[in-house]
Amino acid sequence: MSGNRSPFSDPAAVSAYVRETPRKVPGLADLHKMAALLLAEQAPGAADVLVVGAGGGLEIRAMAETRPHWRFTGVDPSPAMLDIARQTTSPCAERTDLIHGTVVDAPAGPFDGAVCLLTLHFLDWDERLETLREIHRRLKPDGVFVAAHHTEIGGQAHLWLGRSATFAAGANSEPGQAAASAKAMAERLPLLSPHQEEACFQDAGFKQPNLFYAALSFRGWVMTA
Ligand SMILES: C[S@@+](CC[C@H](N)C(=O)[O-])C[C@H]1O[C@@H](n2cnc3c(N)ncnc32)[C@H](O)[C@@H]1O
Repeated sequence: MSGNRSPFSDPAAVSAYVRETPRKVPGLADLHKMAALLLAEQAPGAADVLVVGAGGGLEIRAMAETRPHWRFTGVDPSPAMLDIARQTTSPCAERTDLIHGTVVDAPAGPFDGAVCLLTLHFLDWDERLETLREIHRRLKPDGVFVAAHHTEIGGQAHLWLGRSATFAAGANSEPGQAAASAKAMAERLPLLSPHQEEACFQDAGFKQPNLFYAALSFRGWVMTA
């Protein structure tokens, strides 16, 4: 694992993650609701859902609340983020398996659907493509996959990451701090343009990636295996 994921091994940062992320990512609660709605189109009843980068457990908890017949398999390489996920998902623990590792450590499935939220922006092209291929390999034909993360908008990563950082900082945001945070993210994250994102999804075997979520520097796509 590369150093750009080190924040997820710092216990203080990890416990703040679950508390603060819903406020920091615009529309996160609705992103979770839309992900469940989109997955349910191919999985209206009981379903097995793969969650890649499941640390924190927020998306599993949100989907479990509205879909009582779904079972979840979450994978994440950060033990600290998985520990928090265990706490967050305790209300649905009997239908949630949390596995330490990346998608290659997930069972073969096949799964009815998969999500990967706020994670792919950490992966460079090769690791992202491999991750996407392994997700695709684990889905049933026409199983739905939902991905959402930071993207490079209009070749202006600093501008849009800065807007996201300002949103995350809230009412007390200091312009200098948001700019510094955006600069650090732009340097650290191997962002792709929306066009490159869609090419990567298709290279991995997914059909018809369609944009369904756009929030400052975040974009979300839905596609089928
Ligand atoms: C920003 S958190 C997002 C967690 C959760 N999906 C959410 O939306 O709240 C990113 C997560 O991706 C995990 N991660 C990093 N590299 C990964 C990889 N190659 N495969 C799966 N998860 C990874 C990190 O450990 C971390 O828990």
